[in-house]
Amino acid sequence: MDGEGSAAGVGALLAAALRVYERSYGGEAQVAVCAPGRVNLIGEHTDYNQGLVLPMALPLVTVIVGSSTSGQSCSVETITDSADEPRRVDFDLPTESSPLTRGRPAWANYVKGVVQHYRAQPLPAFKAVIASSVPLGGGLSSSASLEVAVYTFLQQLCPDDGDKVAKAVACQQAEHTHAGVPCGIMDQFVSVLGKEGHALLIDCRSLEATPVPLADPALVILITNSNVRHSLTGSEYPSRRKQCENAAAILGKSSLRDATMQNLEDAKDRMDSVTYQRAHHVIEEIARTAQAADALKRGAYAEFGRLMVESHNSLRDLYEVSCPELDVLVAAAMEVDGVFGSRMTGGGFGGCTVTLLQADATERTIKHIQEKYSGRPTFYITTPSEGARVLSGMKS
Ligand code: GLA
Repeated sequence: MDGEGSAAGVGALLAAALRVYERSYGGEAQVAVCAPGRVNLIGEHTDYNQGLVLPMALPLVTVIVGSSTSGQSCSVETITDSADEPRRVDFDLPTESSPLTRGRPAWANYVKGVVQHYRAQPLPAFKAVIASSVPLGGGLSSSASLEVAVYTFLQQLCPDDGDKVAKAVACQQAEHTHAGVPCGIMDQFVSVLGKEGHALLIDCRSLEATPVPLADPALVILITNSNVRHSLTGSEYPSRRKQCENAAAILGKSSLRDATMQNLEDAKDRMDSVTYQRAHHVIEEIARTAQAADALKRGAYAEFGRLMVESHNSLRDLYEVSCPELDVLVAAAMEVDGVFGSRMTGGGFGGCTVTLLQADATERTIKHIQEKYSGRPTFYITTPSEGARVLSGMKS
């Protein structure tokens, strides 16, 4: 990551985690792994509608170092900002009669959830340290990167069958049951299967992914963190998901993936206007994502950028998940010569925008956004990176 953001590289995170491990538990960690956050280029709020998404894995990662230990008691420590909650947690391995449940600290729920949904047995107890450069609550999937890092760590202690899609699904389940967020599959999928130099066109119905090359040195992918997060996020996401399911049911489809704009128009008088708007966004966004992936393959960046802006406007006006800060960031970026497109990314209500631009326009774009945005944005100039991996140089 060579942006303006102060993101630590993998090496620095690893070194920091190993130091804490030695101080807290003594000795050397046997295992070190990492899993990335993600930025979604286009295809927002389509994953839980069985649609298409086009994210890429980031160089921002969650690192876990640790070792197996005897007994039943696991200890996990985080060195990442944890919102004034304890940084260390101890819990027993789950049994059939006493599964791991949600509790405090909140960050540990992701760990417990993945332990609970892990796909091989018998898991040994473990002690571990977590360090992350993915900004928390910034819409870059800090939670998925933690879940996938935990799963990858457990794979080193007790190998599963190596099925990567099943791994992503287990991590998604952990988020559903232990974080209480009924998320789609995008974040965990790309954190597991991300490919260096490529975005991933993921079909969230078949769970197949097509890598799309994205390594043109004349192109920059700029992430701008608004550094705001509006607290309505909790209820808004599940309510959007329900509205979409409701729309699909009215249309007589198993998901909005199977619906066309014609179907929706035909059923317009059988649904309220909000349900109509939500379905309108999803149906068009799925089509836009297919077009955008095609444009990217052809190097048609201007076309890709136009689709990004259409996506943003639809998220703002029809899906109503943007916020004034994100709208200002997008509008500011679009005023700069050399910018192809910009949009909010992730769940919404704050977090980040993603902007596609000519590399030689980077400096003036950052400067212009800083002038136009009254908050304090953080910038990341980023490249598509590899999914979860074991970090070399460790004993295992
Ligand atoms: C969050 C969820 C994803 C996806 C996006 C919106 O990041 O975790 O599954 O639904 O919002 O596209």
